[in-house]
Amino acid sequence: MTDVLQSGLETADIKPNIGSVIRADKQALLSGEHAGEIRNLLEARGVLVFPRINFTDEEQLRFTETLGTVVRERTGEDVFTVSLDPEKSTGVEYLKGSLYWHFDGTMQPVPILSSILCAKVLSATGGNTEFASTYAAYDALSDEKKAELEGLSAMHSAWSSLFYYDPEPDQAKLEMFMDVGDIELPLVWTHKSGRKSLVLGCTARNIVGMDNKQGTRLLNGLREWATSEPFRYVHEWSVGDMVMWDNTGTLHRATPYPLDSGRELHRTKLEGEEPIRA
Ligand SMILES: [Fe+2]
Repeated sequence: MTDVLQSGLETADIKPNIGSVIRADKQALLSGEHAGEIRNLLEARGVLVFPRINFTDEEQLRFTETLGTVVRERTGEDVFTVSLDPEKSTGVEYLKGSLYWHFDGTMQPVPILSSILCAKVLSATGGNTEFASTYAAYDALSDEKKAELEGLSAMHSAWSSLFYYDPEPDQAKLEMFMDVGDIELPLVWTHKSGRKSLVLGCTARNIVGMDNKQGTRLLNGLREWATSEPFRYVHEWSVGDMVMWDNTGTLHRATPYPLDSGRELHRTKLEGEEPIRA
């Protein structure tokens, strides 16, 4: 069903639990007149799709600035090229982890609020982006399961995700990933809004104080639940699409694609506004 909001912004739900399509005039998006509504929709719907909006880098950056504070990349760029082609991107090793369910910036004390991607070049095969609502997945748990998760926390690290795609890394590479550090995070995030979401992903390696096998069983089961059909949306890109997501309540991953496919997405990020708290 399509809704037309007060300001003229046209939105339609994609699935009951996740995702909305937004159709709006490009200039109106850049002026910031819809910024408040977009922020509200982002939190309520998790993923917002702007089909074939065809923003340039400069426009993508201007649009991002209407919604909050832009975060620069480690390399100092405002607009980052996401690509597995070493000639196009400086972060290929870390981007390999993007093929597994994760939040962006899990290792930061305050994770970023949102990532915004614009599609420039697509792979002929694969390369969709999948999203899963960890708000909706938490809400749908039984009361017994919610009680079981209460007070639990997990250790997260970049080196845990390294083993997903490089099971026998050389020691120097492992040390490089270990230098990123480790962080203990609650399994359930109570947001300042009062809503709760699950904190999962390929960076999670064990439940603090729990036997390794039992903890792995719990983490794997929760990941399977949170990324199952009712909570998941798969975006099949067209060139010019822009997609943004609430990184505080939405896991994501790319589906595999050939490294030399040329696939290229441009990313901007919005600064986080609250730490992960139990
Ligand atoms: Fe990511």
